[in-house]
Amino acid sequence: MYEDYLKFAKDLALKGGAILRENFGQLDAEQIELKGPHDVVTEVDRKVEKLYAEEIKATYPDHGIIGEEGTSENPDLEFVWVLDPLDGTKNFSYEIPFFCTTICLLKNKEPVVAVIYEPITDNLFYATKGGGAFKNDEPIHVSGQSEISQSMLLYCHAADPKAIEDAEHYVTKLKTASRDASRLRSAGAEMALVAKGVCEAYLMNQLPLWDLAAGALLVREAGGKATDFTGKDWAPGDSNILVSNGTQTHEEVLKILWQK
Ligand code: IPD
Ligand code: CA
Ligand code: CA
Repeated sequence: MYEDYLKFAKDLALKGGAILRENFGQLDAEQIELKGPHDVVTEVDRKVEKLYAEEIKATYPDHGIIGEEGTSENPDLEFVWVLDPLDGTKNFSYEIPFFCTTICLLKNKEPVVAVIYEPITDNLFYATKGGGAFKNDEPIHVSGQSEISQSMLLYCHAADPKAIEDAEHYVTKLKTASRDASRLRSAGAEMALVAKGVCEAYLMNQLPLWDLAAGALLVREAGGKATDFTGKDWAPGDSNILVSNGTQTHEEVLKILWQK
């Protein structure tokens, strides 16, 4: 049903990913700008977003676009592309090879196509609503691990001090309850770890749509769950998300988030 859009998004992510790969390890310090005290951006983020926006406009002129680096074109249309050209900019800037590029298509504000491409490992993750989740054309599935004590958890938070403090409140508890809880600094690539069954859950607080949408669909289509921190199904507009393998671990993590 969404095959044409999926093919378009996969091709585009491969092009964007090639730009990221070519530039990885090549940036000088002056090419890394501060967006805030804890947030960075590079000219590569902007270059990839520009490419995506131009190709979307040329191919689907009646679709909207929302991109992290400032693109905002008709965000209320039936079809809207949500772009994070480089997810994991801090890792990219510090030459840590864990980052991705993400493209998600919303239909009536619901994710229907998701592509997450990791250019260093050449892993292309994708999903369509009702069509399953895949890595390099092989189906992927979340893990069956239901014991939180044996679960590998991931978390991240927005870059502002309030989000950092809120996360500190529960991170120690998550680490104590599980095998470990880590922050790997690329929301899309971390949700792909949950979707492919390597990690059991991932949570993010106070993050924008482009960090959440593609991964939420990928994890759901891989058999997992995506909710907000109250346990309600996650939907665009919710800035907190917990994605997991959908076992008891999901409820256990929610309980920890609400502990005083
Ligand atoms: C960031 C990553 C990171 C999260 C940050 C995001 P960016 O995205 O997803 O994991 O903790 O808050 O901003 O800026 O590298 O696209
Ligand atoms: Ca991001
Ligand atoms: Ca980004």
